[in-house]
Amino acid sequence: MQPTPTTGSEGAAWAHGGVDVHGRVAIVTGGASGIGRATVELLEARGVSVAVFDRTGAGLRVDVADPASVDAGVAEVRGTLGPVDILVNAAGVAAGGPLTDDAYLGEWERALAVNLTGTMLMVRACIDDLLRNGSGRIVNVASTEGLGASRGTGPYTVSKHGVVGFTRSLAVDYGRQGVTANAVCPGATLTGMTAVIPEEARDTYARRNVPVGRYARPEEIAHMIVALTAIEASYVNGAVIPVDGGLSAKAD
Ligand SMILES: NC(=O)c1ccc[n+]([C@@H]2O[C@H](COP(=O)([O-])OP(=O)(O)OC[C@H]3O[C@@H](n4cnc5c(N)ncnc54)[C@H](O)[C@@H]3O)[C@@H](O)[C@H]2O)c1
Repeated sequence: MQPTPTTGSEGAAWAHGGVDVHGRVAIVTGGASGIGRATVELLEARGVSVAVFDRTGAGLRVDVADPASVDAGVAEVRGTLGPVDILVNAAGVAAGGPLTDDAYLGEWERALAVNLTGTMLMVRACIDDLLRNGSGRIVNVASTEGLGASRGTGPYTVSKHGVVGFTRSLAVDYGRQGVTANAVCPGATLTGMTAVIPEEARDTYARRNVPVGRYARPEEIAHMIVALTAIEASYVNGAVIPVDGGLSAKAD
C-alpha cells in the first residue's frame, strides 16, 4: 500500500490543488537559453524559486562538466534558496562530424563531458536534497537522438543515449524513496542550437520529416518538462518521453 502524503511540504503542496510546485526550489541547467530558459519562465510563473546554472547569462555561472563548479553552485543555491526539490538538466552541446576526422575524438569527449557527465554531476550534487522530503523530481533533457540516430552526429547521439540510460538507472535506484527521474526527448526545436541551420534548410527538413510539419517552439518542450516536476507526477518514473511532433513515431 502506498503512503498518503498528508504531512510536510508534500501535503501542503497538494492542498494548492494543481499549482502544486509552489514554494519549491529548482535548478535548471542551460537555463540562459532555449528550452532551459522556457522551462525557467514556466516554473517561475508557477511560483517555483529557480536557480539558473549556465556558462553564460545572468544566472549562476556554472560549467556542468566541472565537478568543483557544480558542487559550488549547488552549495550556493542551498545557502540562498534552500534545499533543491527539482532538478532539470537542460544544458547541452551539439557535436558530430565524420568518424575519421581529426576533430572526432574532441567532439566525442566534449559531448560526453557536458551532456552526460554534466547530467550525472548535477544529480550527484543534488541527490541528498532531492531525497529529503520524498518528492524530489529529476528531468533530464535527452533528444530523439537518445532514441535513434541521425547521420553524422555520433558523439551527440551516444551522449543522449547515455542520458536515457542514466535516467532509467536513477528511476530504479531512487523510485522507492519518492524521487522520480524522467527523460524528455525533444525533436527539432528552434533554439540557439539549431539557429545555425539556415531557415530554408530547417523548413525543408521539417516539411519532409516531422509529422506536424515544423520545428517546436522551446515552450512546447518546456510544458512537458514542467509537468514532470509536479508533485502529482509521482507515478511517472523512468519514462522516456518524445516531444517531437511525431518524428519518432514515423516509419517512412
Ligand atoms: N534544439 C533542439 O533541436 C534540441 C533537440 C533535442 C534535444 N535538445 C537538447 O535540449 C537541451 C537544451 O538545448 P537548446 O536547444 O535549448 O540549446 P541552447 O544552445 O539554446 O541552450 C543550451 C544551453 O546550455 C548551456 N550550456 C552548454 N554547455 C554548458 C556547460 N558546460 N555548463 C553549463 N551550461 C552549458 C548553453 O550556454 C546554453 O545556454 C540540450 O540538452 C539539447 O541537447 C535540443
